[in-house]
Amino acid sequence: MLVDAINHRRPETATENTILGPFFVEGMPVSPSGTNICLDGKGEPLVVQAQVVDIDGAPVKGAVIDVWQTNDDGFYDVQQKGLQPDGNLRGKFQSDAQGRFWFQTVKPRDYPIPADGPVGKLLTTLGRHPNRAAHIHFIVQAAGYETVITLIFSPDCPYLDEDTVFGVKESLIGQFEKVNDSRLAGSIGVPNPFWLTAPDFVLKPVGYGGAN
Ligand SMILES: [Fe+2]
Repeated sequence: MLVDAINHRRPETATENTILGPFFVEGMPVSPSGTNICLDGKGEPLVVQAQVVDIDGAPVKGAVIDVWQTNDDGFYDVQQKGLQPDGNLRGKFQSDAQGRFWFQTVKPRDYPIPADGPVGKLLTTLGRHPNRAAHIHFIVQAAGYETVITLIFSPDCPYLDEDTVFGVKESLIGQFEKVNDSRLAGSIGVPNPFWLTAPDFVLKPVGYGGAN
């Protein structure tokens, strides 16, 4: 987190970076907006309605956005090959002319990082638990802008103040709204009730403000 903070200084208005983590998978195909990335049917439905903009608020068209999170049992698909469908809770999207994209998923949950090796010994020695605050991973890339590797945290997670890898930044705590509106749910094709979050990803142009 310290190296990341030093290497990815951005204007205050730009979306902050945070750690990539070990469970990113390259090469997912681009899916149309509205796709449901939850393939195992577990968890509370969540709609993510996002916009990619630059630091002046102008929409960024054609940004490519990778998304991934654990399933509702707290594991990534790659940790449970054969138990979860391949590609469960993963997707790649592209922003439209207004910089927008949206997808269906499930509300993220907290999960323990693998603690059966040296990391587990370190955590035990330090008297720390292995739990990560509930989050969704994003990588947002667009030509002419610095790539952002970031997270959106669920605002009601009990581990926000004690994320085991210190990945939480206040600006990355999302606003999640519980929507109970069967007509709206029906019109966008999601189960009712559902959670809704509408994050902006604010990109810094390459070269803005000098190196980095
Ligand atoms: Fe994660």
